[in-house]
Amino acid sequence: PTAPAVIVAIDGPSGTGKSSTSKAVAAQLGLSYLDTGAQYRAITWWMVSNGIDTDDPHAVAAAAGKPEIVSGTDPSAPTITVDGVDVAGPIRTQEVTSKVSAVSAVPEIRARITELQRTIAGAAPLGIVVEGRDIGTTVLPDADLKIFLTASAEARAARRSGELKGADVNTTREALIKRDAADSSRKTSPLAKAGDAVEVDTTALTLPQVIECVVTLVEEKRAAK
Ligand code: DC
Repeated sequence: PTAPAVIVAIDGPSGTGKSSTSKAVAAQLGLSYLDTGAQYRAITWWMVSNGIDTDDPHAVAAAAGKPEIVSGTDPSAPTITVDGVDVAGPIRTQEVTSKVSAVSAVPEIRARITELQRTIAGAAPLGIVVEGRDIGTTVLPDADLKIFLTASAEARAARRSGELKGADVNTTREALIKRDAADSSRKTSPLAKAGDAVEVDTTALTLPQVIECVVTLVEEKRAAK
């Protein structure tokens, strides 16, 4: 018998290991994978590339429907394009990172991207791991399993500056705290733990330990379906 489709929501602030964990869990269990942060980064990249003032919510809202964002959901080779252009590299620049919180706080942007996310999740044949900030609370409130990853600010900054080669830990920590504060305090679907989410503090855990923990939780849910 084929396993029923399973929907997994993984939320949390930056630097908690969300992407690495989500990709590995999806690959291990044969599920699709969606990085929703990449979608917000992609639409931000388009705004910047088209000269739209990302600090002007009206200008951002007016352009929200224009770019076509397409996400590839294979966890071993995730892709993201905007109007057919591969933007996997450009969406990770400091410029996009510093502007993405303002763009993703605009309700018209969230409505557009949320709809896209629900369509992708609904079309995944065996199920999907969706990572972000508001997946368990807003995008997929009926997910089979909701995980909320946390870690100390020090651990998160150390991981991020390791990823961004040569970046200073203190500068990274300040930028990360600022972005999380903006993402948590916005009016529309802020970063938040869903009431029925399982919280996993990754501060003292290795990546393989976090992956194993989440895989076990998914397998339990699948068995119970
Ligand atoms: O996961 P990330 O760092 O690539 O996400 C980039 C930004 O996108 C994050 O600072 C806030 C926004 N975001 C969001 O508002 N909602 C999501 N579900 C995912 C990301």
